[in-house]
Amino acid sequence: MNKLTIVGAGLVGEAAAQVIAREELCRELVLMDVQGELAQGKALDVWQAAVESGSDTRVSGGAKAEMLAGSEMVVITAGVPRKPGQSRQDVLSINLPILDGIMADIKQHAPAATVLVVSNPVDVLTYRAWSVSGLGRDKVFGQAGVLDTARMKCFIAEETGFSARDITALVLGGHGDSMVPLMRYCQIGSVPLSHFLSSEQIERIVERTRKGGGEILNLKKMGSACDAPGVAIAQMVDAIANRRNRILPAVAILEGEYGRKGIAMGVPCVLTEEGLARVIALPLDAQEQAMFDHSADQVARDIAEMEAL
Ligand code: LAC
Repeated sequence: MNKLTIVGAGLVGEAAAQVIAREELCRELVLMDVQGELAQGKALDVWQAAVESGSDTRVSGGAKAEMLAGSEMVVITAGVPRKPGQSRQDVLSINLPILDGIMADIKQHAPAATVLVVSNPVDVLTYRAWSVSGLGRDKVFGQAGVLDTARMKCFIAEETGFSARDITALVLGGHGDSMVPLMRYCQIGSVPLSHFLSSEQIERIVERTRKGGGEILNLKKMGSACDAPGVAIAQMVDAIANRRNRILPAVAILEGEYGRKGIAMGVPCVLTEEGLARVIALPLDAQEQAMFDHSADQVARDIAEMEAL
């Protein structure tokens, strides 16, 4: 990839920039933020760290929307994180106008860019970004499931003692609290999880994963998770920049898959050069479909709330 811009030089934007620059996922990386000098300072720091790792990715920062020009991909992390006790939807009224402003800048300066939305509430803001962009769903989607899956893998590794390398997990649905784990698709070294864990243990892992963002927020108090979200963003960028054709969960606009339309939800997707190449529609059993519908209803209510603002 030639050029990628991260809009939002907060903790998540900076963490993503670190990994993207270190792994040389693009030739030119821009860190944009309304606080231009902060973005410039962080960009210099990230660039110098990348050089130490042998990377030639050039990193720059600033506040000017013109910096978006030529970006093949834009990652949006701008906005306020929630505070302890707040839900992701509680930051909607602040983050919605920020997202709208960024989408207008992208339309003007990088209209063909693939857009990855990370700011919360991510399902609602992904829907908004897609609907104002006029682009197809292959070009506008969000990050949530890669992070939720990583969290679940941690907790499975902790509970079983097995290497996290051998653990695969799959989550659908809204980010966090209304997440839908598909436990029958979770395996350790190709063996179904249920071979190693009781349903009570699995339920505990699911609950902790659902509240995984809140657990970190309540401990850190001054800010939400940033390192794991940064790596999750970089994984999605890598799939696109390196044309990997990877199956990763993404927040995608549904066009009838899973029985839903006109909503953005976490589903397994194929990510490659052109962005989100397709949504993988899995057959769900009655219980999974009921959980999915519950999550979709919640996201639909959140989208309606956003549209009323
Ligand atoms: C989390 C926030 C960033 O899950 O959504 O940590």
